[in-house]
Amino acid sequence: MKSYRIAVIAGDGIGREVMPEGIRSVDAAARLCGFAIDWRPFDWSCETYHATGSMMPDDGIDQLSQHDSIFLGAVGFPGVPDHISLWGLLIPIRREFDQYVNLRPVRLLPGIRSPLADKKPGDVDFWVVRENTEGEYSKIGGRMGAGDDEAVIQTAVFTRKGTDRILRYAFDLARRIGRPHVSSATKSNGLFYSMPYWDERFAAIAAEYPDIATDSHHIDIMAARFVMKPEQFDVVVGSNLFGDILSDLGPGCTGTIAVAPSANLNPERRYPSMFEPVHGSAPDIAGRGIANPIGQIWAGAMMLDHLGEAEAATLIIKAMEEELATGAHLTPDLGGSASTQSMGMAIAGKIGLR
Ligand code: NAI
Ligand code: MG
Repeated sequence: MKSYRIAVIAGDGIGREVMPEGIRSVDAAARLCGFAIDWRPFDWSCETYHATGSMMPDDGIDQLSQHDSIFLGAVGFPGVPDHISLWGLLIPIRREFDQYVNLRPVRLLPGIRSPLADKKPGDVDFWVVRENTEGEYSKIGGRMGAGDDEAVIQTAVFTRKGTDRILRYAFDLARRIGRPHVSSATKSNGLFYSMPYWDERFAAIAAEYPDIATDSHHIDIMAARFVMKPEQFDVVVGSNLFGDILSDLGPGCTGTIAVAPSANLNPERRYPSMFEPVHGSAPDIAGRGIANPIGQIWAGAMMLDHLGEAEAATLIIKAMEEELATGAHLTPDLGGSASTQSMGMAIAGKIGLR
């Protein structure tokens, strides 16, 4: 039987609670489709940091490189500054494995009320493609001076290679999903060098895809349009910072960030890709067994899709949508009283019933 070797990093807080439900659904779909998953757990978290002084061992990246994919819960917890947990685990994984695409579906699911008035499933349905390795998130800069003379510099880096490949990914995605329209997030009226360059490369890459319609929006008005007219978007591409913000704003417009998944992709498959929910470790509700597991479960479906198991991925998404539509096992964030586990088991059960 075909088997995939998957590194599991449940991480912190509700990451540990939603991970078993992600695994449950992936296993259920795998069983039906005739393949197996060899789950390999890695206990790396803020607790590891407290015990050892680092988020993962020195050879952590080497260990992960032996896997077909990485399935992540959430990392970060009070007691460890966020820039330490993030730069100690998540960001090294994204960069060492050249996961330059962060892909996030924004889709209003059945049974969930959008905070946008009168929106129903189908009205909000698009993809955010975020650059994941360079741009505004750099370690280039510094602090100087003190007191009134203090100054801080943070430099953004846009390379030709990094810019072109994320733009091409967006155009290829638009073709692949049959939604031939790409919107670019820019701010060339405010950022003097980086965003005019982004616009120039967007136009150059667009010329390679004459079958795909394009438009460009300054990030501020794009944010407003996500809320006012989400129907107008199919594939949205943005730099690391803009994409980060848009890919939380988008799911926010679908009612809850708890259901949103995210894929960190190395499209050339030279390295493992990583799949995780958009949400973090939610310290405010951690330990109570009430976290919504759908972001983790949907991330599992994206992982199966990337591994070439599209049928299994579809099984999970269908089961998730059907279960949500019944409204029988909703977690408190969706207005119900179900536990993480009972919602996860209901979805896995639906996969098994098909
Ligand atoms: P968060 O996503 O953990 O929580 C934001 C709000 O949404 C909270 O009120 C939380 O209860 C709620 N929420 C999140 N996921 C939920 C779920 N599955 N079900 C029900 N409600 C849910 O973001 P926050 O509070 O900004 O960050 C908390 C920690 O998580 C920080 O240490 C942060 O650095 C880390 N974090 C990690 C991420 C990752 O691992 N990729 C992403 C975002 C934050
Ligand atoms: Mg974010």
